[in-house]
Amino acid sequence: MKIVVTIGGSIIIKDNDPAKFKDYAEVLHDMNNEHQILVVVGGGKPARDYIGIARGFEASEAACDDIGIEVTRLNAKLLIMALGADAYPKVAMNFHDAMEFGTSGKIVVMGGTEPAHSTDAVGSILAEFVDADLLINATSVDGLYDKDPNKYNDAKMFEKITPTEMMNILSSKEIKAGTYEFFDMTAIQIIKRSNIKTRIINGEYPKNLKKAIKDEIGTVIIPD
Ligand code: UTP
Repeated sequence: MKIVVTIGGSIIIKDNDPAKFKDYAEVLHDMNNEHQILVVVGGGKPARDYIGIARGFEASEAACDDIGIEVTRLNAKLLIMALGADAYPKVAMNFHDAMEFGTSGKIVVMGGTEPAHSTDAVGSILAEFVDADLLINATSVDGLYDKDPNKYNDAKMFEKITPTEMMNILSSKEIKAGTYEFFDMTAIQIIKRSNIKTRIINGEYPKNLKKAIKDEIGTVIIPD
């Protein structure tokens, strides 16, 4: 299978721990023996810290996004280092790079691309570009919830959800007001228009990626 994996920065760079990158590298190595793997890495706290400094200069939103993108690429570079010979040695700067680097048979790693969206969107566009069989979104909770599971005890995780249902939840007030990052609207639109099979899983445990391939965990986004 051709598999695109997005790893939230809030997961991989959470504790500034090289072991987290290594754990991911090990699992991705195994997966690459059987599948073609392309990875999109997020920015996490370092991105927010850097953006915070840029905001202090009254930088434009696009300029702040640009700083965030740089940090996602730095995180991507760390994952490339952890992967060693398994990875294509350069961070893909755009989707054309990713497709070209993918012909090497190595794991392709990239961060953000351009302002105004998150790495969730990058993952879905990449999945569209390479005609991926599966998009796995590794996040900080077990799947997709109706509300922030860190805040609400009665939050309900979806086993299955359609893009339209996701859009309805995303436009609800509660999600907008809260800090829980649900899913990028651009990402949902792309997943909807191309029927990309997508599984949202808990990325705290890198081995969950393998379970995601077997459809064992998380939330699956199914066509409308
Ligand atoms: P992320 O997508 O990682 O955002 O990119 P995030 O919401 O902080 O996700 P986690 O914490 O990794 O799970 C970090 C920032 O970089 C900019 C945005 O400002 C984003 O908030 N960015 C990223 C872009 O502008 N374009 C991109 O393609 C990617």
